[in-house]
Amino acid sequence: MARKPIIAGNWKMNMTKVEATALIEELKPLVVGAKCEVAICVPYTDIETAAALCKGTNIKVGAENVAWAEKGAFTGEISADMLLEAGAEYVIIGHSERRQYFGETNESVNKRLKTALAKGLKPIVCVGETLDQREKNRTKSVIRKQLVEGLADLTAEDVAKVVIAYEPVWAIGTGKTATSEQAEETIKFCRNVLAKIADRKTANKVRIQYGGSMNPKNVKELMAQKDIDGGLIGGASLKAVDFSQVVNYQD
Ligand code: PGA
Repeated sequence: MARKPIIAGNWKMNMTKVEATALIEELKPLVVGAKCEVAICVPYTDIETAAALCKGTNIKVGAENVAWAEKGAFTGEISADMLLEAGAEYVIIGHSERRQYFGETNESVNKRLKTALAKGLKPIVCVGETLDQREKNRTKSVIRKQLVEGLADLTAEDVAKVVIAYEPVWAIGTGKTATSEQAEETIKFCRNVLAKIADRKTANKVRIQYGGSMNPKNVKELMAQKDIDGGLIGGASLKAVDFSQVVNYQD
C-alpha cells in the first residue's frame, strides 16, 4: 500500500494568536487541493485558535511537544489531554532543538511517545545527526540509537502509527539542505532500522519525512526519492505562499 505523504509545518516559537490567524486564513485557500496530508504544528497558545480556524478544512493541527505524565506536579508541561482538548491531532516529539536546549533524551522521547500513542495523538518523532557526528562518520550509529531507544517497547501496530522526521541538525534553519541522495540514503537506513525494531511490513508502512531547510525550490527533488514521504518544514512554514508551494510540490 502506498504511503500518503505528509507535509507538516513546525512553527517553533513563532506566531502570536493574531499572527497565527492571519497566516492560517491566507494558507487555507492555497492548500485546499493538496494531494498530500497537511499539518501545522504550532505553539501551545495557538492550538485552540488554529484548530477552530482549520475545522472542516484539509489542514490538521499539531503541538510541538507533550508531557509524558498524565497530570500533576510538572510545572511548565502540557498534557496530552490538554492538547487533545485544545484540538491537536499531531505532536512533534524529540525535535533537535528540544534535545539541544532542553535536555531531551532518547529516554524522555520514548516516555512522551508512549503517552502520545496511549492518548491517541499522532506522533512525529524527530531524529538526526549533528555536523560533528556526520563528519566523524557516526550518522548511522546515532540515528540507530535514537530510533531503537526512542521507539523502545512499542508494538508493531504502534510503530506503524508513528511518523519519523529525519532532520540532519546541520541542515535545520541553516539554508543548507541535505542532498536528495544524502536524505534518501539516511531515510532508507531509518526504514531498515524500523524493520529490525518491528518487521519489514510495518517499516514499509511508516511515513518518514525529511526536515532541514526544505523549501519550494528543493521539495520536488527530495520528494521524488523513493523513501521520503514528506517534510517537516520550519522557516518556510511561516509564510503562507512558501508553505503552500511546498505542500503543492506535485503541481
Ligand atoms: P527549517 O526547520 O525548515 O527551518 O530548517 C525544520 C525543523 O526544524 O523542523
